[in-house]
Amino acid sequence: MMARPIYAANWKMNVTPAEAERYFAEFLPLVPRAGGRLIFFPPALSLAAARAAASGREEIEFGVQNIFWEPHGAFTGEISAPMAAAAGAGVVLVGHSERRHVFGETDEETARKVHAALATGLAPLLCVGETIDERRAGLAEAVVERQLAAVLPTLDARSARDLMIAYEPVWAIGTGETATPVDAGQMHGAIGRLAARMLGAGAPTPPVLYGGSVKPDNAADLLRQPGIGGLLVGGASLDPRSFARICAAG
Ligand code: PGA
Repeated sequence: MMARPIYAANWKMNVTPAEAERYFAEFLPLVPRAGGRLIFFPPALSLAAARAAASGREEIEFGVQNIFWEPHGAFTGEISAPMAAAAGAGVVLVGHSERRHVFGETDEETARKVHAALATGLAPLLCVGETIDERRAGLAEAVVERQLAAVLPTLDARSARDLMIAYEPVWAIGTGETATPVDAGQMHGAIGRLAARMLGAGAPTPPVLYGGSVKPDNAADLLRQPGIGGLLVGGASLDPRSFARICAAG
């Protein structure tokens, strides 16, 4: 039987503390019992308000969208894994395509962040995915293989237990274009095989979420694909009604 799906909301640079409070006032009654694991990634400044607004619903998990790998020090503007954990985050997005392509984050930096997260007990949600040019050049699998190879072989079996992966084709993020369920399913199959090989025998296979223009209308089709263990939702997670519908898809 398939594990319960993971529904993850990446709010990106949206939602103030007051807006987070209003969001949960509307969202919680719509989702009285989640059919899967539910993880919200508010901006770090709204994390406390979001957690307070969802208190009483202990099954709802929270994460941060990024960390720096050092635990503390003179790194103006950054937040560390221990700080995120102390603020109530249990999960962290690492290597989101906006970090890679807007802020120039490298594969080596994503690896350092994954290790910093694991050392603090934060579960990393490692994002991988190809650009449209890479896909057209037939390099989609080679690109995710490179992104995974920078991180996975460096993990021991124990760390691998906490790891989650998201496949987010860059050309599908925020564009309204979704990978077809079959294309996505194919990439998820490849990522599952690569992860199993790189993590080695004995390590559990991490769940692989799909992300990129997930909407209430395509969520169920995507979740039906073998190998898609959940959804990482950006734009559609900002509307509590849309995200509630997505959370009922699996
Ligand atoms: P989107 O974003 O759902 O708005 O395409 C997904 C993501 O970037 O995680």
